[in-house]
Amino acid sequence: MVTIIERAPAKINLGLDVQGKRPDGYHELSMVMVSVDLCDYVTVDHLDEDKIDFSSNCSKMPVNQQNDAYKVAQLMKEKFQIKTGVSIFLEKRIPVCAGMGGGSSDAAATIRALNQLWQLRLSQEEMIEIGMQIGSDVPYCLFAGCAQVTGKGEVVNHIDGHLSSWVVLVKPEFGISTRTVFLDIDCETISRVPIDDLVCAIEAGDSAALFAKMGNSLEDISIAKRPFIQKIKDKMLESGADAALMTGSGPTVFALCKTEKQANRVVNSLRGFCKEVYKVRTL
Ligand code: C5P
Repeated sequence: MVTIIERAPAKINLGLDVQGKRPDGYHELSMVMVSVDLCDYVTVDHLDEDKIDFSSNCSKMPVNQQNDAYKVAQLMKEKFQIKTGVSIFLEKRIPVCAGMGGGSSDAAATIRALNQLWQLRLSQEEMIEIGMQIGSDVPYCLFAGCAQVTGKGEVVNHIDGHLSSWVVLVKPEFGISTRTVFLDIDCETISRVPIDDLVCAIEAGDSAALFAKMGNSLEDISIAKRPFIQKIKDKMLESGADAALMTGSGPTVFALCKTEKQANRVVNSLRGFCKEVYKVRTL
């Protein structure tokens, strides 16, 4: 029996710029994403019986059609008329509803795994098309690494840079619904982020420019809903982080630190303040 294991890394947004509203109700985005070494794992196995057998180590995860990885299996099974079954085990390590793209990364890893298991030989474009039917962050997660992502999330361009940093991730106990954050956007007043400058800074390996240009258009909206996000940012900067920013629509905040010593200081300053603190590296 063939067992395929795919790693599903979390992502952070070094930049997220909302450029306007699209006719389809979504928003035109320009983002800089980078993967970090906090990962879920998706294991798929062939089953003779025609069914999807889905399980997870995480009791909070739905193990049915509400789960994006399950949705991928259903969609691909139907689209490619697969008459055998599959068992999928999702090992969750990335916090859920955190803005770290965990669900999208699981979905992307499932697309890659099923492409192998069912020997579909899908092109990048075909995988992106399947990913977009599941969620806007899935196309980026198919390739991971450091990338500029535009459109609704379907245009992914790899950035050739030298970004290697310690990252401290802090996930508050509450979650934030991405949909409600996007619903509160006022395109006239939203703060804008210079994504092109950010990309140049990464390509040039200019960390001072990178820290200066990082930003997230959604941050003010999420902080208005949950001021605790600002408190985490302040604590990170006070304890010596080079930069601190909310990722995605939140509520997770990350700090970038050039050295491990700095990262340890940030971790220690947040102990007792937040339960979920992770020290990781960019991938
Ligand atoms: O595509 P996904 O399910 O991840 O998006 C969640 C919500 O975020 C959407 O329902 C939409 O309201 C909002 N969104 C948006 N513009 C995007 C991506 C997401 O308005 N480019």
